[in-house]
Amino acid sequence: MRGVVLAGGLGTRLDPITRIINKHLLPVYDKPMIYYPIQTLVNAGIEDILIVTGGRNAGDFLRLLGNGREFGLKHLDYTYQEGEGGIAEALDLARHFSRGEKLCVMLGDNIIERNVVAAVKAFRRQPRGARILLKDVPDPARYGVPRFKEGRIVAIEEKPAVPGSDYAVTGIYMFDGTVFDKIANLERSDRGELEITDVNNQYIGEGSMTWEVLDGWWTDAGTVKGLLRASKLVASTGANHL
Ligand code: DAU
Repeated sequence: MRGVVLAGGLGTRLDPITRIINKHLLPVYDKPMIYYPIQTLVNAGIEDILIVTGGRNAGDFLRLLGNGREFGLKHLDYTYQEGEGGIAEALDLARHFSRGEKLCVMLGDNIIERNVVAAVKAFRRQPRGARILLKDVPDPARYGVPRFKEGRIVAIEEKPAVPGSDYAVTGIYMFDGTVFDKIANLERSDRGELEITDVNNQYIGEGSMTWEVLDGWWTDAGTVKGLLRASKLVASTGANHL
């Protein structure tokens, strides 16, 4: 399985902090934000990783991460997303890198306390489809939210006014090689993006989506509150053995 960290977009929710610094390079406690998702993939045994950058000062990622030696990697791949056309648009840039293999994709602003070792192992055994990780949250309306029927996810709604459950779809996604055909079917949403939720709904439609609930805390650090919360959580419990 190959890994992708999505660190494109302009981070406008953190303006003015992100006016001259890329969001994913901001400090979360004592490390740059992007260290956490990279370490999560490495901890799950993934050695081939692509970083999708974007926005301003993309060269800073290369200066910071180099070939990934600090993470015990021999090599890192990089690519650049122009604009901020959505998570699925950023993922489409991994088409060549994926070589048709399964992918574990993590959003560059998602931070978890523990690891995804068991989920990755389960997805390695899954013959086809996708696997997502859910977390119960007090404010599901801010996220992609699954709707269940008899223990199966029947749909995911992106930032619904009336959430169908108390779960958020976290920014850790496992996809088989058909993900790029699914991205090719997408149309832009009302916010002008190619939505990862619409990709997930195609897997749900064909009955090949599995899920589990993530262990330990999870946060996204993409808002001012989220960034502070992430630093506090890392300071108090640590994350990913970093
Ligand atoms: O954090 C989990 C949530 O992430 C999910 O529950 C939602 O379903 C999913 O849509 C996403 O929601 P956000 O609205 O919070 O995503 P945001 O636009 O903040 O982007 C999150 C990360 O995705 C960002 O740190 C980098 C990457 N990204 C985003 C965009 C819009 C890209 O690489 N390129 C992009 O164009």
